[in-house]
Amino acid sequence: MSRTFYITTPIYYVNDVPHIGHAYTTLAADVMSRYKKLKGYEVFFLTGSDEHGQKVEKAALAAGETPLELADRVVKRFQALWDKLGISYTDFIRTTQERHKKGVSHLFEKVLAKGDIYLGEYEDWYCTPCETFWTETQLIDYKCPDCNRPTEKLKEESYFFRMSKYQEQLLAHIEANPDFIQPKSRRNEILSFVKEGLRDLSVSRTSFTWGIPVPGNDKHIIYVWFDALTNYITALGYPDDGGNFGKFWPVDVHLIGKDILRFHTVYWPTFLLAAGLPLPNKVFAHGWWTVEGQKMSKSLQNVVEPNMLIDKYGVDAVRYFLLREVPFGLDGDFSHAALVHRINSDLANDLGNLLSRSTAMVNKYFGGTVQAPGALAEIDLAYKAKTEAMVEQVDVNLDELAFSRALQSIWEVISAGNKYIDETAPWTLAKDPSQQERLATVMYCVLESQRIIYFLLSPFMPKTAAKGLYYLGWQGTPDEAGLGWGGLETGTGIVKAEPLFPRIEDKTDL
Ligand code: MSP
Repeated sequence: MSRTFYITTPIYYVNDVPHIGHAYTTLAADVMSRYKKLKGYEVFFLTGSDEHGQKVEKAALAAGETPLELADRVVKRFQALWDKLGISYTDFIRTTQERHKKGVSHLFEKVLAKGDIYLGEYEDWYCTPCETFWTETQLIDYKCPDCNRPTEKLKEESYFFRMSKYQEQLLAHIEANPDFIQPKSRRNEILSFVKEGLRDLSVSRTSFTWGIPVPGNDKHIIYVWFDALTNYITALGYPDDGGNFGKFWPVDVHLIGKDILRFHTVYWPTFLLAAGLPLPNKVFAHGWWTVEGQKMSKSLQNVVEPNMLIDKYGVDAVRYFLLREVPFGLDGDFSHAALVHRINSDLANDLGNLLSRSTAMVNKYFGGTVQAPGALAEIDLAYKAKTEAMVEQVDVNLDELAFSRALQSIWEVISAGNKYIDETAPWTLAKDPSQQERLATVMYCVLESQRIIYFLLSPFMPKTAAKGLYYLGWQGTPDEAGLGWGGLETGTGIVKAEPLFPRIEDKTDL
């Protein structure tokens, strides 16, 4: 039986154009997905678009389009960005697709038939941008406690989901599964929220029409979060439990931003409990990006568009920066200066120099051919051990979605490589004919360590890794077997490397 790995991003609203916040979650999922593939897993990586609801309906009206026209237009922008960013998703689900609508209706009907959805009446405060109802006591100055925008009082007939019924079961599940909600601070937040008590949840609306009708009562539209969350199973073919649904559910990890934690760790699991379906293994909420110290917003005109960043700095520099700069799970600040600093110091200096100098040396001393290494001296053994430990550390860190720490452990070995060259001084060995074997050994170690480095970098920076491996004479794609020391064969041709990342000097250009 092959090992499987299923990872998802939120499905993005089509009333907005993609910015670095969206790119961040999707990129993180891409790195995990590529890494798991490298490790031999069969991977299903899902992303998509959230196209129903009042928010989209209103945006379409404002743009003079039908909601579907708006969605078709914006979805293309997301998909083009994902291509440009090198996102290797397996499937892209749109909530307007038939396969999705069918699955949502099925789930709704199933929970309704069980008696866990009932018809009642609603009167509460509604925040349209967040598509969320609030009680009067939750409001702050009658504004939404999440986004601080005005709310409106709505009274309507509504279907309700008996969320309260699942409070104890959900609590027990969170308590018994410490990894279910990550990071820990988010888990604590949800634990106290659930302990305060769960109210039944309104799961239908009659105030607009852009959505999936309630089966058997099409005056009602299914609540957009009930609709949206279900994408994680409809994309697998639910309710058909053969095929992908049987194979990949429960999901290994739902990656989300911290603002949509409650939907994923309270609403979604209780829907699943009611439907008798297994719960996600893990929900991980990352932090938010600010820009040069400020909240990113259209009104401040400081929205950072990934397209512009990629054009300016290159796709791999952007991929590297976003995952290296801020520990996943914490908030972070984006600035051009920080990005340029990372490019110059980590990519051009550390990574690029190591490759340039070592491939230049092997060309100068051995005509670009890998020589058989002799017995390893203590300094070589220490360097080899560091390289091997890195493989383990990256694995452990990525399992915890600690992207930044994984990259840090790779950079420790890159620095160790530069130091190793300084200490072994191949230029001195080259002058002494009796040191030929020693020189061959040093060259072997420094090239082999880098081969493994580029294997591990391939999920993060696929293009750079392919280049690095080309210079190192490696043909084929990185795989698990190649993570062990000794894969570099004697006789391999090494190409003198061009700089991988030219330094960015012109500060006035920032
Ligand atoms: N459609 C819902 C998700 C439904 S999932 C079943 C939604 N869409 S969204 O387009 O508004 O946001 C998608 C993701 O982008 C969220 O995870 C959110 O946290 C993330 N981000 C939006 N702005 C962000 C930042 N400034 N920084 C980091 N991530 C941010 O919510």
